[in-house]
Amino acid sequence: MDFFELIYKRESVRGYIDKPVEREKIEKIIEAGRMSPSACNAQPWKFVVVDDKEIVSKLAKKLYDPLVSGINKFALSSPAFIVVVGEKRNLTSKMGEVIKKQDFTSLDIGIACENICLAAASLDLGTCMMGWFKEKSIKELLNIPSSKKVHLVISLGYYENKEPRKKIRKDVTEIMSYNKY
Ligand SMILES: Cc1cc2nc3c(=O)[nH]c(=O)nc-3n(C[C@H](O)[C@H](O)[C@H](O)COP(=O)(O)O)c2cc1C
Repeated sequence: MDFFELIYKRESVRGYIDKPVEREKIEKIIEAGRMSPSACNAQPWKFVVVDDKEIVSKLAKKLYDPLVSGINKFALSSPAFIVVVGEKRNLTSKMGEVIKKQDFTSLDIGIACENICLAAASLDLGTCMMGWFKEKSIKELLNIPSSKKVHLVISLGYYENKEPRKKIRKDVTEIMSYNKY
């Protein structure tokens, strides 16, 4: 598939069909995350794949919040999730973060997550990155040490075949300039 076709195909999928995702595909998708660039090649991530039905259902309830306009209700239909945990950085990139006042971990994880979502789209799987979740109870559910941060949870699954939605994006004139701000 042409790169730009893939870019337009990837969208946040908020509804899945009842079909498990093959582990072979999950592993390909994680490979796309593993190959992502990161500051000083620190690779400060761990991808916890959840595809066990019982745990999936418990996890979905920690993403869905009926009190906040039903946010992430669609997660209840997702057959799998990738929980993205931040890991220790290497010393050089830690120093870089402090000296340059940059949050390299979030940058690195954002890049890896997009690679993951694009890889999934290339395999006709839908994803949605979710930043709204009950972090503490997800850590308890998945035995993630309390000292670590869950940055994102990505839903993953098959969905009804349909045309991608029209993308709502700022005009290029608003987000790009040449040679000066
Ligand atoms: C860091 C991050 C957090 C997000 N959190 C949520 C979320 O909790 N729930 C949700 O439905 N979508 C979430 N999204 C998806 C965005 O709403 C979506 O990417 C944006 O509206 C653009 O639409 P598109 O992904 O379909 O192109 C998140 C996206 C990102 C990058």
